[in-house]
Amino acid sequence: MQNSLSIVILAAGQGTRMKSALPKVLHRIGDKSLLEHVVRTAQSLAATDMHVIYGHGGEQVRQTLAHLPVNWVLQEQQLGTGHAVQQVLPHIGAHQRVLILYGDVPLIQQSTLQRLIDKVSDDSLALLTAQLHDPTGYGRIVRNDRGEVLSIVEEKDASPAQRKIREINTGILALSAQWLQQWLARLGNENAQGEYYLTDIIAMAVSDGVNIKTTAPQQICEIEGVNNKKQLAELERAYQMQRAEQLMLQGVTLRDPARLDVRGDVSTGQDVEIDVNVILEGKVEIGNGVSIGANSIIKDSVIGDNTVIKSHCHIEGASVAAHCQIGPYARLRPETQLAEHARIGNFVEVKKSQIGINSKVNHLSYIGDTTMGKDVNIGAGTITCNYDGANKHQTIIGDNAFIGSDTQLVAPVTVGTGATIGAGSTITHDAPAAQLTLSRSEQKTRKGWKRPRKYENKTSE
Ligand code: UD1
Ligand code: CA
Repeated sequence: MQNSLSIVILAAGQGTRMKSALPKVLHRIGDKSLLEHVVRTAQSLAATDMHVIYGHGGEQVRQTLAHLPVNWVLQEQQLGTGHAVQQVLPHIGAHQRVLILYGDVPLIQQSTLQRLIDKVSDDSLALLTAQLHDPTGYGRIVRNDRGEVLSIVEEKDASPAQRKIREINTGILALSAQWLQQWLARLGNENAQGEYYLTDIIAMAVSDGVNIKTTAPQQICEIEGVNNKKQLAELERAYQMQRAEQLMLQGVTLRDPARLDVRGDVSTGQDVEIDVNVILEGKVEIGNGVSIGANSIIKDSVIGDNTVIKSHCHIEGASVAAHCQIGPYARLRPETQLAEHARIGNFVEVKKSQIGINSKVNHLSYIGDTTMGKDVNIGAGTITCNYDGANKHQTIIGDNAFIGSDTQLVAPVTVGTGATIGAGSTITHDAPAAQLTLSRSEQKTRKGWKRPRKYENKTSE
């Protein structure tokens, strides 16, 4: 059966057990909400249309995820999974195949779904099931002696014998729209929960002579849902382990795959080494031979070949060329550009500045709104005073300049090529090229001066 595919994602549930003002499907794993994970995976299946069933009061879900290419369908009252799917029927053509997914089951894999869809035909329905050690809470798959599926029974409606069944309904299934329409029209709600159960269509299918084909996910985490913060954290770990495994299979050395968090899209070259407790966020491009020290956070940045980032660095919105050295304890803020062989040392903050080839800012400095040439040496404790309380101003430092320690460069100001600034200077006017410029009060020594001494302790008796 080659019919085109419609995807329906159920996301109208309340999620009260999250104990949160945020709707359940907006909670995040990695950098994406639960629902966005499902939509992104579903997108890779090349469906003709995708529908998300959202709940009354779920306007926030719709607004937050307005960028997703889906049709939003409101289910005003949550009368059950069958009722939820009924809402979408007017939007689905009779000759489609339909895949039903859950917005709170974020780690489902494309390959599993593809296997499921491939089992659908005019006379067969495909059900994703799994064997669990503890099936509590799930609907159970009831089979006959020949192993054929007869029905799904919800836990609350199950007999003690049925509750012992360990094969569970994941809730994910695929079938032809024609059958779905017929069966949904016949659903009732005479059951323990007074709900319209989507699962009741299985017994209807059996009595209509439709085959029930089952397949299992490769990993159990694919079918696990999020109902509370504990499950959210467990799936975050599962997801992070998948990301770490992908990186290792691409050749990245992770000193401990359990202590890396990836919250975005990361590309890596060869021979990249990442130490423990590193967080990579947003879009991060890492070149060949880069090493990243422990406890560093890198967000939306490009790191060039053979650059060394030592421990405890924060790098955001920066572009770092090859062969640079950063940290330990350095902070690169947005619009920072380091040219090749630049060095940024400990307790240095750089913002919206260009640092030229082979230039060094090694200790305790703030460099903001600065254009720095090559081979510049910035002494310890140098500060660019870029802000006058109202506006930001530029500092320009020419090639080969040498800025003595503890200098304040009061912007706007230019330091010429090859200029030297004496230590401790406050530079408020441009410093000419190739000259020594300094501002420093004269050093004095007072002869015969004595340090004050503590008064003797007088006891009055
Ligand atoms: C459902 C299945 C159960 C399966 C389990 C897997 C039914 C009757 N039961 O049970 O067999 O083992 O999932 O997790 O289908 N939803 C709506 N509208 C509603 C009700 C639910 O959109 O009116 C959505 C929820 O947001 C959720 C999904 O459907 O994403 C499942 O709903 P939930 O109430 O969690 O179903 P279970 O009772 O757990
Ligand atoms: Ca559930």
